[in-house]
Amino acid sequence: MTSTTPTGPAIAIDDLTRTFRGPQGRVKHAVDGLTLHVERGEMMGLLGPNGAGKTSTAKILMTVLLPTSGSARILDHDVVTQAQSVRRLTGVILGGDAGLYARLSARDNLALFADLYGIPYRQQKRRIQELLDLVGLLKDERKRVESFSRGMKQRLHIARGLLHDPEVVILDEPSNGIDPVGARELRVLVREQVRAGRTVLLTTHYMFEADELCDRVAVMRDGKKVAEGTPESLKKQSDGQVVLTVEVDSAAEEHLTRLRAVPGVHSAALAELDGKQVISVQSGQQTDVTAVVLDRLRDLTIRQVSKREPTLEDAYVSLISGGRP
Ligand SMILES: Nc1ncnc2c1ncn2[C@@H]1O[C@H](COP(=O)(O)OP(=O)(O)OP(=O)(O)O)[C@@H](O)[C@H]1O
Ligand SMILES: [Mg+2]
Repeated sequence: MTSTTPTGPAIAIDDLTRTFRGPQGRVKHAVDGLTLHVERGEMMGLLGPNGAGKTSTAKILMTVLLPTSGSARILDHDVVTQAQSVRRLTGVILGGDAGLYARLSARDNLALFADLYGIPYRQQKRRIQELLDLVGLLKDERKRVESFSRGMKQRLHIARGLLHDPEVVILDEPSNGIDPVGARELRVLVREQVRAGRTVLLTTHYMFEADELCDRVAVMRDGKKVAEGTPESLKKQSDGQVVLTVEVDSAAEEHLTRLRAVPGVHSAALAELDGKQVISVQSGQQTDVTAVVLDRLRDLTIRQVSKREPTLEDAYVSLISGGRP
């Protein structure tokens, strides 16, 4: 990897805003005054519910969406005025079906993009070979991409994104739709990129993935940053809290409302886990809310009750659901 000047953050987003005009001319803020700095060699996770503004932020960094105001810089190159340098320095991995030629083989796809990136022909062969090996597609290199599974396409996207040896890599939901074993291999691959000295920004909805991979995470909601820190520090915000989980049948929003009104309860959320309904209740350690919680749920069939330490997902749920009208 050819290194640029070793000063300043790899990604510097300052007071960035992007608005869209909705129906009836209403202005909607996809990104709303976001400031976020990612240091060189760091892996940063961008988390947040659907519509929080993660992809919009990523697109601005990839120079495919213009900011309305504020600035975004990659290795000190402005995404608007120096878009071409930004594209040279940044590898973009979006996933899905777009961006690959279905009728071409994996190798031919990479050769085509290597041409587009202006990689000298002499270097192309070796680079493509290295990347196919890195993403584990050497044995499938001659197969047409249309015959690839989602996970194989995802790995090819990664190879494509790394072709021009970028210093900064942006991945938008890389493990979306990938099976657990494939997702684990993918995480190893992403981690290797940071080991190789690259800076990575990744969006994900999988909290355990963010916890396992990221040096720091930022949580967005409604275009704004609502939290930032190491996964450990976010979990610590839930410090002194315990999570009571109650497996039930057919809980409704009304049950959560009841639980949120219990003194000492910080948050209550409902999730489907392996076809089971599980209510998670976060509360302070001082007061044991178990008896009251079970009393408030007495109209439900309770299958199992247990207690555990907060995870990053609990910290996230509490951040996102906190203050929601
Ligand atoms: N081209 C567009 N035109 C109008 N509104 C848009 C456009 N692109 C995004 N938005 C809006 O901006 C907001 C943020 O969208 P964005 O795709 O950035 O969210 P996200 O955090 O990536 O969500 P998800 O987790 O669902 O991928 C949403 O309300 C979305 O509807
Ligand atoms: Mg998105």
